[in-house]
Amino acid sequence: MAFPQSFLDELLARSDIVDVVGSYVSLTRKGSNLFGLCPFHSEKTGSFSVSPDKQIYYCFGCKKGGGVVNFIMEEENLSFPDAVRFLAKRAGLEVPEEEGDREAGRRRQRLLDLNRDAARFYYRLLQQPEGQAVRDYLDRRKIRRATTVNFGMGASPDAWDALLNAMTAQGYTKAELLTAGLIVDNKRGGFYDKFRNRLMLPVIDTRGDVVAFGSRVLDKSEPKYMNSSETPVYSKRRVLYGLNLAKKSKRPNIILCEGNLDIVTLHQAGFDNAVASMGTALTAEQIRLLSRFTKELVLCYDNDNAGKIATERALQLLNGSEFSVKVLQLPRRRTEDGELVKQDADDFIKNQGPAAFERLLSGSENGVEFRMAQIAGKYDLENDEARVAYSGEISQLLATLPNEVEREIYATRAANAARITPEAMKIDVERARKQRLRKENRAELRKNLNPAAQSQPKERSLRYDNLRSARAEEGVLRLLLLDEGLFPPQPPLKEEDFSSPLLGRVFTLLWQAKEEGRGAALPALAGELTPEEMNHVTAVCQRPESVRNGRQALADYIRVIQAEKRSGSQEDPLLAAAEKYKDKKGEKRNVK
Ligand code: UTP
Ligand code: MN
Repeated sequence: MAFPQSFLDELLARSDIVDVVGSYVSLTRKGSNLFGLCPFHSEKTGSFSVSPDKQIYYCFGCKKGGGVVNFIMEEENLSFPDAVRFLAKRAGLEVPEEEGDREAGRRRQRLLDLNRDAARFYYRLLQQPEGQAVRDYLDRRKIRRATTVNFGMGASPDAWDALLNAMTAQGYTKAELLTAGLIVDNKRGGFYDKFRNRLMLPVIDTRGDVVAFGSRVLDKSEPKYMNSSETPVYSKRRVLYGLNLAKKSKRPNIILCEGNLDIVTLHQAGFDNAVASMGTALTAEQIRLLSRFTKELVLCYDNDNAGKIATERALQLLNGSEFSVKVLQLPRRRTEDGELVKQDADDFIKNQGPAAFERLLSGSENGVEFRMAQIAGKYDLENDEARVAYSGEISQLLATLPNEVEREIYATRAANAARITPEAMKIDVERARKQRLRKENRAELRKNLNPAAQSQPKERSLRYDNLRSARAEEGVLRLLLLDEGLFPPQPPLKEEDFSSPLLGRVFTLLWQAKEEGRGAALPALAGELTPEEMNHVTAVCQRPESVRNGRQALADYIRVIQAEKRSGSQEDPLLAAAEKYKDKKGEKRNVK
């Protein structure tokens, strides 16, 4: 592990979970625990619990849990080491970095330096004679000089090795250029520049580091846009083009577009709150990133099929989040031949001007209106049957709205569109809503009553091969966390005795902590377990366990584990037969 144990212990001691979580979630005490609204999923009643004694949190709704480091990893979207650094800063502790980490940090910094120097190289070229073709292109697209400076745009020359030579002359190695994705291996022992004769768009993250490049050809050739591949400093899921500028905007919201040059045009027209996800669907990571800067998003995707699908996807992803979301639909434009064509934000600003965009922005519909229009578009509302189907689908949509007034407003609007009486529409909506709530309650109830029926864990390590033994193993862990004094000086179980490798590993780690006098506790395991493993182990350990008959319980658990281990060493003939039968059935189904 990267950090010395003594440092981590000190950090945990100085980062009380109630203080840390309390600065994100408002908590109220109930018994020995505190409760609040879960920050990781949307809910109206608090299922999120914090235990000051165990120094863990656990959500009974989304089943996420762990110690203070896990909380910061989840909430701030950080890796384990970064979450540790985050907490250290908060607690005023200096982080002792290990040689290996310092080395990785140095390599990262080298890549960032290289990207910055490459961006400077492209930027300078744009001002020089070699940059003429790109300058002409920018003129054609009406991108002004000040805008190119604002975005740090550049020109890659029409040559195979211009950047390669310039950067190696500055002391960078080919290996570094390759890792940064700036040159390509020609498989014959040679290398060439990845970006040639293109408009260069550096991708700058919110810290101001150049993490990658986007680029566009100057003519109609393919590929139109070429972006850096993923590198140690660039994960496209986590970056939004233009957010380095948009985060400083005075506007209350952030506009999400499809294209890099849409962003450029929008900023130039005064919409300095626009960002783009560079040709990928919006990701959960990007949403978390955005949530640091705004609580209001405007989706401004292209008005074609792909754009509508992207909008629907984004709405689904944002559903139940803290964001209020609007959809700005760009109208299609009629060409001279009378054909209707899509426009993106860039086209629209050029054709209609910034004031028209401002009007669209202030009048943009919310997600419900967008979806209602999508549904209306599917049906011929002159046809009776279609109107029935339409009102059914609208009811399902409106039933998801928690606010009664909103349901009523939209129901009335939908009724008018289909020439149905508003009363009939409202009755439909309320019926759909009741059905929905009943279904949700039933699902919730089932989940609480029958933990075994909860969704199958994806990670292999979370599955139990022997449920009876695993339940006893869970009990052993709970007792160890509750009172080390129940245990003999020598470990009563070996790691191999556990049927669940995960529980066995946790036992060993906790025992080790106890031996070293640090005390067995979950929060210290954040660096050893994956977040999913931590969620699982926290779920196991937050369940009640009594110390009253602790010694007896421990003896019983150990007996079960050992008995199961003995019987498990021979194959269970019934089980084997059942497995075989299952396989056969699967085969038959495939044949059919
Ligand atoms: P579009 O093809 O819609 O282009 O791609 P655009 O933004 O209107 O481009 P212009 O106006 O012709 O310059 C939208 C976005 O998808 C990504 C780019 O980020 C682009 O801005 N993209 C597109 C790629 O990554 N690769 C491609 O080949 C095309
Ligand atoms: Mn465009």
